[in-house]
Amino acid sequence: MDDLRQKYLDAIAGAADENSLEDLRVQAVGKKGEVSLKMRELGKMTPEERQVAGPKLNALKDEISSALSAKKAALGDAALDARLATEWLDVTLPGRPRRTGTIHPVSQVTEEVTAIFADMGFAVAEGPQIESDWYNFDALNIPSHHPARAEMDTFYMHREDGDNRPPHVLRTHTSPVQIRHMQDNGAPCRIIAPGRVYRADYDQTHTPMFHQIEGLAIDKDISMANLKWVLEEFFAAFFEIDGIKTRFRASHFPFTEPSAEVDIQCSWVDGQLKIGEGDDWMEVLGSGMVHPKVLTAAGVDPEEWQGFAFGMGIDRIAMLKYGIPDLRAFFDSDLRWLRHYGFGALQQPNLHGGVSG
Ligand code: PHE
Repeated sequence: MDDLRQKYLDAIAGAADENSLEDLRVQAVGKKGEVSLKMRELGKMTPEERQVAGPKLNALKDEISSALSAKKAALGDAALDARLATEWLDVTLPGRPRRTGTIHPVSQVTEEVTAIFADMGFAVAEGPQIESDWYNFDALNIPSHHPARAEMDTFYMHREDGDNRPPHVLRTHTSPVQIRHMQDNGAPCRIIAPGRVYRADYDQTHTPMFHQIEGLAIDKDISMANLKWVLEEFFAAFFEIDGIKTRFRASHFPFTEPSAEVDIQCSWVDGQLKIGEGDDWMEVLGSGMVHPKVLTAAGVDPEEWQGFAFGMGIDRIAMLKYGIPDLRAFFDSDLRWLRHYGFGALQQPNLHGGVSG
């Protein structure tokens, strides 16, 4: 019995893992284990022998069982220690620096403009950037051979031979949204429509893609005076400059009559663009009273309804407000430019010109 005891205690002490420990348990105290078999022999012994051997065998079984569980616990602790030693994480290390992006001036200014017009009761409408020539031109009183089509440097969509869908263009202005909105909603209405527009043009103040915001207000008695008030109210709120100088010039658009263009006073000195001073003017919008033919094309009766429309260059007013001298840089995706002119996510536009925080 002493041999048995020594054999198993040594083996248990030397077991390398839980599997070999389990094998030892089966060999020693399992149903057909060595100790269990010895216990069965008790039956063949005389009562005297049994009285001596019985307790000894029981004690041996207990001793092996507790050696097994002690070893099992020790193996578990060792495994945990090993895992803890390999799977550590230094929570005191500094984080990996990650630059936060900025909000592009065009997005910021679009939000600012939207907030100001929303306060005057204008809702936001949208339309597609690829338009049929009917929405972009005909419905706006620009028939096929009208010189305005050529003036606009239009990008036409490629067409396969035999494609008999109407010609499509990249919209040259946001004015087609006027037509779509009135077709769907009728009059009265008061909307602005911000979005991308396209013309083949490229210099310091022109890029082939740029942004406009269209305005449209139709009701029974809307006049040119309302147009002027709305625009002046807008400029005062947007630029936050007392007595900012604007210039309303009589102009011509096929889709408005009468028409006016608006310029804002500015100066360009040593590559710096400044607003509200100097003797340069930057044209920022076209406007006028919606032409009766345009109302008719959109399904609105010009005998009953009238109103104004305007189309403003978002990029232009962003350049003026934030002193950004070259429009082309807006679309270069130069990170240094974006960090310099971009806005933080918490600089929320508000009614009074724009930016807080
Ligand atoms: N669509 C004109 C342009 O892009 C602007 C405009 C809009 C003028 C609405 C008058 C009325 O130049």
